[in-house]
Amino acid sequence: MPRLTQTITAPNGLKYEQPIGLFINNQWVSSSDGKTLSCINPATENEITSVHAATAEDVDAAARAARVAFEGEEWQGIVGTARGRLMLKLADLVESQQHTLATIEAMDNGKPYSQALGDIEEVFSVFRYYGGWADKNYGQTIETSRAKFTYTIREPIGVCGQIIPWNYPLAMAAWKLGPALACGNTVVIKAAEQTPLSILYFANLLVEAGFPPGVVNIINGLGREAGAALVQHPEVDKIAFTGSTTTGKQIMKMASATMKNITLETGGKSPLIIFDDAQLENAVKWAHYGIMGNMGQICTSTSRVFVHENIYDTFLQKFTDYVSKINVIGDPFDEKTYQGPQVSKEQFDKVLGYAQSAKEEGASIFAGGEIAQSRPNGKGYFISPTIVSDVQPHMKVYKEEIFGPFVVFVRFSSEQDVIKMANDTEYGLASALCTSDITRAHRVAGKLKAGMVWINSSNSSDFRVPFGGVKQSGVGRELGQAGLDAYSSIKAIHLNLNLTTSI
Ligand code: NAI
Ligand code: MG
Repeated sequence: MPRLTQTITAPNGLKYEQPIGLFINNQWVSSSDGKTLSCINPATENEITSVHAATAEDVDAAARAARVAFEGEEWQGIVGTARGRLMLKLADLVESQQHTLATIEAMDNGKPYSQALGDIEEVFSVFRYYGGWADKNYGQTIETSRAKFTYTIREPIGVCGQIIPWNYPLAMAAWKLGPALACGNTVVIKAAEQTPLSILYFANLLVEAGFPPGVVNIINGLGREAGAALVQHPEVDKIAFTGSTTTGKQIMKMASATMKNITLETGGKSPLIIFDDAQLENAVKWAHYGIMGNMGQICTSTSRVFVHENIYDTFLQKFTDYVSKINVIGDPFDEKTYQGPQVSKEQFDKVLGYAQSAKEEGASIFAGGEIAQSRPNGKGYFISPTIVSDVQPHMKVYKEEIFGPFVVFVRFSSEQDVIKMANDTEYGLASALCTSDITRAHRVAGKLKAGMVWINSSNSSDFRVPFGGVKQSGVGRELGQAGLDAYSSIKAIHLNLNLTTSI
């Protein structure tokens, strides 16, 4: 009998039981063909453990469990208020286990423990927020004629397949599970290959909170195998995905066979515009946070920074000084560490490849662009923060999503020009601008083609506010009240009042 759990001692000394199986019907099972995926700590390059990898057959079992749970009285019979209570209980359990969950994420993803703790706070906050919405999914009454009573109700969509990335493992799960459960759906969620451990640990909290079997099923597995099987499964009514634009397009295609409802949150190359009247210290701080947070592995990272020519050189120098002060590279469990490793060897190689490409295309590497000299024990996927200046629009580093601590700087001279340059991308996820002129701020915000605009900040997202993109950055919105639209459908009901007299 293959093992379904393993005792792990984390680098910070925490000893805990790590589930490593597939979570279907509130039970741990092994994969049907016994295949596993190796889990690597990117700070040390050592294997932590390995987890069962779902086959198409396992995905089928999970989807059928979610279908039975969706149709079953145990879940259908729970009114919104009671569903909300389950979610609040779940939030309390996540909060009580935040140390363990943050430890697991720091170890499996490489993010500094302090940042992982912030992510777990986001997780329980999102469950509380959507727990509050669970009994507020209202329909409308619509006046049509006196002969009938017309109204709408909001119904859950059904079985939702959710595919999450590795950059914020449990937070991305919460963004999707929160609204799905609040609206009364059931779920099969697939963890990213690189980071399955925290969501597997979280699975046991679902049972403890009292969720009926089959309401949330959690699988690990390869995208092209388990992910693709989930997207194509006939029992799955909806797919919600966060990840690369390339995979998002494949998912759209696969989901078209059964015309599934889809929500996609994909890539970005978000601009940050610094006007010459910006409050400089504040702009430097946010420009830094916008690209260096989470090792630059954020879909909304403001990775293209446009600076007005009057302040370009000063800004670039101040930014570089700030990076060298803040980006302390080191062990994710060391309190002083700001920057951990990239999540995987693949991402590490990809980011370094872009530094090479910048050199080849004639950009000037102002700082970084190599393996970090200060990485602990000479191991791990650590990259020195990379600043590339005087980048031209034809260069790969200007156009493509890099997903690392890698920023490109561009000069501009007029508002009109910079709006054009900022919008000259296939993406449209986020955008940001810094200025002291409120009129200009409002005017430019209206012209940026993006799902989100931050004024005098960057990446200051909030779970109460809709999140998502236009163009090739995605379809639909997550978070806030808008997040509920993605997980409910409207049914219109026309009730003929059978009036005998004509009106
Ligand atoms: P990916 O988009 O391939 O993976 C994301 C998720 O999709 C994972 O759970 C994966 O297993 C699943 N998946 C992959 N192929 C699939 C398929 N054919 N069918 C169904 N599911 C599938 O991204 P990956 O390879 O991890 O990273 C590549 C690049 O994607 C990164 O360098 C970054 O630019 C971007 N990315 C963007 C994210 C975002 O937040 N928007 C998050 C992660 C990556
Ligand atoms: Mg890992």
